[in-house]
Amino acid sequence: MLFYTDSPEETEKIGARLASALDGRNIPRAFIAMRGEMGVGKTAFTRGFALALGVSGVKSPTYTIVNEYRGKRRIFHFDTYRISDGDDLYSTGFDDYIETDGYTVVEWSENIEDYIPEDAIFVTISREGGECGRRIEITSKKELEI
Ligand SMILES: Nc1ncnc2c1ncn2[C@@H]1O[C@H](COP(=O)(O)OP(=O)(O)O)[C@@H](O)[C@H]1O
Ligand SMILES: [Mg+2]
Repeated sequence: MLFYTDSPEETEKIGARLASALDGRNIPRAFIAMRGEMGVGKTAFTRGFALALGVSGVKSPTYTIVNEYRGKRRIFHFDTYRISDGDDLYSTGFDDYIETDGYTVVEWSENIEDYIPEDAIFVTISREGGECGRRIEITSKKELEI
């Protein structure tokens, strides 16, 4: 699936649609692997995703690596920018989180490629067009309409 946005709000809305699609289908557990450079809108997308589940005030867990939220579903929001190996990742509790019901959303999933589950949903954001133009590609092995 391919989307184009021209503002952070529009990007949030795409995030919200993804969350609503998962929740609406009663999917208890999902892994969302986000890719894209600094400032492209990964946190904006996650903010919208969380909002759709009743969670506001999402901020990038750049220093804490993971923030946990409890809305209609649990959300485990990772930013693995500072993660460089499997030991670092393991120490965040990653292995436990991904086996817990809830939605794991990972910014900088490029850094943890070897640990991304098979059934992950990939969200790749890139700049396109003017300063606020973004291209958002959502792919998954399983069929998914949002
Ligand atoms: N179409 C857009 N989608 C998302 N963010 C946008 C868009 N246009 C401009 N922006 C700006 O880009 C920045 C994205 O920041 P953020 O979501 O924190 O990025 P990341 O988490 O990828 O580093 C914000 O300053 C936001 O206002
Ligand atoms: Mg971010």
